[in-house]
Amino acid sequence: MKIKFSRNFRQFKPFLFEELYRQAAAERAKGRDIISLAVGDPDIPTDRGIVARAAAEVKKAANHRYPNTKGNAALRKAVADWHKRRHGLVFHPSDEVSILIGSKEGIAHLPLAVMDPGDLCLIPDPTYPTYRTGVVLAGGRVHDVALEEKNGFLPDLAKIPSRVADKAKLFFLNYPNNPTGADASLDFYKELVRWAKKHSVIIAQDAAYCDLYFGEPAPSILQVPGAREAAVEFYSVSKTYCMAGWRIGWVVGNGELVRAINSLKENIDSGPFNAIQNAAAWGLDHHERIVPPVRKKFAARAEKFCSGLEKAGWRLRRPGGSCFVWARPPADMKSIDSVCLMLEKAAVLAAPGSGFGRCGEGYVRFSLTEPDSRLYEALRRITALDWKAGS
Ligand SMILES: Cc1ncc(COP(=O)(O)O)c(C=O)c1O
Repeated sequence: MKIKFSRNFRQFKPFLFEELYRQAAAERAKGRDIISLAVGDPDIPTDRGIVARAAAEVKKAANHRYPNTKGNAALRKAVADWHKRRHGLVFHPSDEVSILIGSKEGIAHLPLAVMDPGDLCLIPDPTYPTYRTGVVLAGGRVHDVALEEKNGFLPDLAKIPSRVADKAKLFFLNYPNNPTGADASLDFYKELVRWAKKHSVIIAQDAAYCDLYFGEPAPSILQVPGAREAAVEFYSVSKTYCMAGWRIGWVVGNGELVRAINSLKENIDSGPFNAIQNAAAWGLDHHERIVPPVRKKFAARAEKFCSGLEKAGWRLRRPGGSCFVWARPPADMKSIDSVCLMLEKAAVLAAPGSGFGRCGEGYVRFSLTEPDSRLYEALRRITALDWKAGS
């Protein structure tokens, strides 16, 4: 029997990072010592206290039953308390907080709740690829919004034509930004919220890197008065708590949207394992001990990696946060050619900027999520290349 896949499904390309994992594995299978800086998967082990808490929680029979789709009360309360401490914001744990199986899950599902076939979603270019996923599943259309280096990789809202803004249902953004490392100020969020209300566009701000900031603490869009009418914000323990494998994220903000995500999820999944939710809640309650050393580590890596690249003639804007360096090599080349050159001659795998969107062409994204010795060995190998000669 010939399987005919759906029109929406046929639009999917292989997920960029899966492809990069495959390339690194294939090169390693040939016996090469490949250092992969392609994927943002923190190398730092999860805090021992969180691990101990999880081990104890796994033994409790009560945790072996189905969890509650929107997250258990302990984690929703820990999330609400965390936002109170971190941003001075009060969220109702039942109505304005939903726990996700990693933020990627909620990000991919949100468009299904708010978009009808043919509806328009604004997505930054370059972008985190999952924003497109839900739009494709919902049968929606994408309008790319350029993030240009000259604007600090923030969208120029005035450049979005009114006819596009008025038609758009949803706008995904993420700051501190993947892939560019750019940060956004509260003033930018104020302008964005004004714009969103004027055009009736829902803002989905993805704060997966919110605590990997290198200057002032990254603000929340929900700190803008009235933002809750138009916005939700996604969070994750994957990067800041080095818990990428545990699959916990959350969404907060506009109650109607959070409840819609919950009811969608009730029909799709049953929430994450309670033992892991309880361990994550413990982690959030111990934020001040766990997260600052992680932030310091990534800040130190960013400083050293950027300085090394700059000395070797790479062109870059220093990241304000995240775990990424977004840079152009000393000679102008297509992203894929730079990545292939580094893989072939330096055994270093980076992510091609063009994989994040057309505006990423020419750039390369390095992830700082390898142990220091490997990261700096990769830097040594890359900076030893003669880019003008292409070797
Ligand atoms: C911008 C951004 N948002 C969300 C995610 C997904 O994170 P999670 O592990 O919470 O699903 C990632 C992961 O790389 C990311 O870069």
